[in-house]
Amino acid sequence: MRTVSVGFLGCGNIGCGVWKLLNEFKDDIRHRANVEFDIRRILVRDVHKKRDQSVPQELLTTDVAQVTDDPDLEMVLEFMGGEEPATRYMLRALEKGKTVVTANKMALALNWDILQDAAQKHGSGLYYEAAVCGAIPIIRTTIDSLQANRIEALMGIVNGTTNYILSRMTQEGSDYEEVLKDAQRLGLAEPDPSSDVEGFDAAYKLSILSSLAFHARVPFDVIYRQGITQVSAVDIAYGKQLGYTLKLLAIAKRDGHVIDARVHPTFIPDSHPLASVNGSFNAIFLHGHACDDMMLFGRGAGSAPTASAVVSDMLYAVSRTEPRYTTFMNSNMLAPGLMVTDDWHCSFYIRLNASDQPGVLAYITACLGNEGISIRNLMQRDAVNGHAQIVLITHDAGECAVRKALSAIDSQDVRVESMIRVEAN
Ligand SMILES: NC(=O)c1ccc[n+]([C@@H]2O[C@H](COP(=O)([O-])OP(=O)(O)OC[C@H]3O[C@@H](n4cnc5c(N)ncnc54)[C@H](OP(=O)(O)O)[C@@H]3O)[C@@H](O)[C@H]2O)c1
Repeated sequence: MRTVSVGFLGCGNIGCGVWKLLNEFKDDIRHRANVEFDIRRILVRDVHKKRDQSVPQELLTTDVAQVTDDPDLEMVLEFMGGEEPATRYMLRALEKGKTVVTANKMALALNWDILQDAAQKHGSGLYYEAAVCGAIPIIRTTIDSLQANRIEALMGIVNGTTNYILSRMTQEGSDYEEVLKDAQRLGLAEPDPSSDVEGFDAAYKLSILSSLAFHARVPFDVIYRQGITQVSAVDIAYGKQLGYTLKLLAIAKRDGHVIDARVHPTFIPDSHPLASVNGSFNAIFLHGHACDDMMLFGRGAGSAPTASAVVSDMLYAVSRTEPRYTTFMNSNMLAPGLMVTDDWHCSFYIRLNASDQPGVLAYITACLGNEGISIRNLMQRDAVNGHAQIVLITHDAGECAVRKALSAIDSQDVRVESMIRVEAN
């Protein structure tokens, strides 16, 4: 039986979940992997804070060196969150030759290059299944199980908070602010929800996922990001009438050397597998040249589901004779030879408020036509106070052309109320 001594950096929601799972499951772990994880030290901010009672007080410390510099510790698990000091502490552990397992997408997405560099230099392992989509084994699926594929596209619901908010807005016709407050009350959204609702969290995850999928570094700062704060119940309702469901999607596509990587609210047909992923669940839909379409679905957050990914990484790490690193040159720059475009192609949902006069519709179609954009669906609601709501869905069009057409349309007689991208038609 091999004993692996372990230190924790952080013991909040996830740390306590990992503590619990390692204890509850230790007989199975012994039996399956012939290994025992011995937790020796746990770094926290406040040793007196109330936490899961099964975590022994005597293991807690506020001195990081007792975790990162202890030569007896073989493995360090990081669940502190945030970029710093988590990155610095992980670096210190890697430099001491320890295996690091992290759930921290922000630190990884922003500092993957320096963390991996240190890991390679010191022969240490760096594992991060829990950093993207909780329990869903998307990291290992991408790097191991889908090795024989050229992944051309992936689309994911990778943030449970925004999916919960949009699902409730869709089901109840409620407004964003109202559902957000409820989510905060239920503990499903942070008191400061900006990382989730502004799309940062999803963009960190997309940076990690798309880099692995394309075997080429896609840094966080090349990802287009638009959150859900401006989403209105009116657009969700019109979308519903047209057969679409609104989701915050993380999308990455590769066509030869050109990629697009973006996070934004997106309409997908009700029949798309991602459309039925509701509440706090996550899912990744991808297309590989050999595997074809595939979707992975599951709990994207929470203490036990995230602990499931962490403990699986611990077992994976101890089962390897050599640490596993990325297949690509991991720098914080876009991979050489790749180009990011902001002129991606998809369909577009457009809502206009137009004065009810002859010629207005012709004007709108002319502005779109001038940019080579054709209309697939058009819906007009009866005029109120001399103004009609016009909702249209375009055929496949370029982002830049649509933006240009909308700035021409926006005039005294027609106001552009919203534009939402439509995928997977
Ligand atoms: N929550 C989820 O569902 C989820 C899912 C997937 C991934 N993650 C990731 O997992 C990580 C942890 O999330 P969490 O929800 O467990 O956070 P959390 O409940 O806030 O726990 C953070 C822990 O880190 C400790 N800590 C923070 N800053 C510290 C510092 N400067 N020095 C020492 N200790 C420090 C805190 O100590 P005290 O206890 O003394 O305050 C606490 O124990 C994050 O990277 C998050 O993105 C979370």
